[in-house]
Amino acid sequence: MKVLVLGGGGREHVLAWKLSLSPRVDEVWCAPGNAGIARDVRTTPINADSEDGIAEAIRFARDRGIDLTVVGPEAPLVLGVVDRFEEAGLRIFGPNRAAAQLEGSKCFTKEFLARHGIPTASFHVFDEVEAARRHVATRGVPVVVKAEGLAAGKGVFVARTTDEALAAVETIMVERKFGAAGDRLIVEDFLPGFELTLIVLTDGKTAVPLETAQDYKPVFNGNTGPNTGGMGSYSPHVPLDDGLISQALERIIQPTLAGLERDGIEYRGALYAGLMITSKGPSLLEYNVRFGDPEVQSILFRLETDLLDVIEACVDGRLDEVTPRWNPGTAICVIGASPGYPGRYEKGRVIEGLEESAREAEARGDRVKVFFAGAGADAEGRLVTSGGRVLGVTALGDTLDGARECAYRHLRKVGFDGMHARDDIGVPIRVGS
Ligand code: AMP
Ligand code: GLY
Repeated sequence: MKVLVLGGGGREHVLAWKLSLSPRVDEVWCAPGNAGIARDVRTTPINADSEDGIAEAIRFARDRGIDLTVVGPEAPLVLGVVDRFEEAGLRIFGPNRAAAQLEGSKCFTKEFLARHGIPTASFHVFDEVEAARRHVATRGVPVVVKAEGLAAGKGVFVARTTDEALAAVETIMVERKFGAAGDRLIVEDFLPGFELTLIVLTDGKTAVPLETAQDYKPVFNGNTGPNTGGMGSYSPHVPLDDGLISQALERIIQPTLAGLERDGIEYRGALYAGLMITSKGPSLLEYNVRFGDPEVQSILFRLETDLLDVIEACVDGRLDEVTPRWNPGTAICVIGASPGYPGRYEKGRVIEGLEESAREAEARGDRVKVFFAGAGADAEGRLVTSGGRVLGVTALGDTLDGARECAYRHLRKVGFDGMHARDDIGVPIRVGS
């Protein structure tokens, strides 16, 4: 079987690699992939994040006889890549355009949550900068200011002071750092608690929860500094008991799936719930309509069932036949980022130490792998940095401490000049007081 993965980050690397391990898969392509992903599977320079790119991906899938396409990132989903592939008679994993609004528009989602009685922080929507300024100036802190549209995980500002909140309004609406995503903004209550990522697979009838994970969004240790796409993750999430997971499924996931059905929206694919576990129980911070990056690196590192079986069951509406098996240990993913990220950063720094890390892993029997995101090749064919989040060292251990020790030991071997990583991935962190 031939599989195509759309996207080119760490999430797509782990998806492509896992699929390549399936005994039923003969060929895996990643479009566009990156130079690091190209060490494991074949890549083609097609970027499906525009209408033209989607048309090219459809041509590629037809010409190459691709049997199944798996969509990684949100941009193609929001554009309707799934609808277009299906119209062309091609099999594809991911939600359609109508369902992808749950990530594409925070206002759509907030209204959806309110309509279906799903717990979330209370909020106000603004499409006019003066009104947003007035509200923020008088409402008290901490407060959260969010751009309405897609902003690669960087459009959310947790403001501790009124000045920070006002600055966030300027960044989103006046400087328009996120373009049209900042036409409207949302101001919402700050919720203290533990963050938890709960991803379910659904075929529209059955929902199969994946193992839990925690993401570390802020760039610096102790959850300080600006938000990033995610600086690391571990799975399973420790500060939680099974009761909380069932609560999250009952109060958030099930009403969401029922609400989608009532609204006439068919959802097939991965649904990511970003939850805050507060003293009153789980509350929804955001939905994503895809696997989380870097959570899925940790989650899939523990998956023992063939990923192809799980994904095909989802696409074919047979999820009720599948119960994924998980390694009972802990997996962790620590991101190595370019210095300056999520602000400005340089590119083109040589990534070193991969051979040494591989030798050590072999000698010690370490279960570790480096997944690449912002990695390109220079004129001499060396792997170099080409993005903010460059790589993620992912390790599996029998315990959380074992996994941390292994990931950080390899992270010290692998890297590039000035690489920045958090030291506290895997340490449970409470947000707020
Ligand atoms: P989002 O992209 O909406 O999940 O927001 C990014 C990050 O900002 C989340 O992972 C949280 O760490 C933080 N955040 C967002 N909304 C809130 C909230 N209402 N209260 C506390 N933290 C929040
Ligand atoms: N790690 C959060 C996300 O994928 O949006």
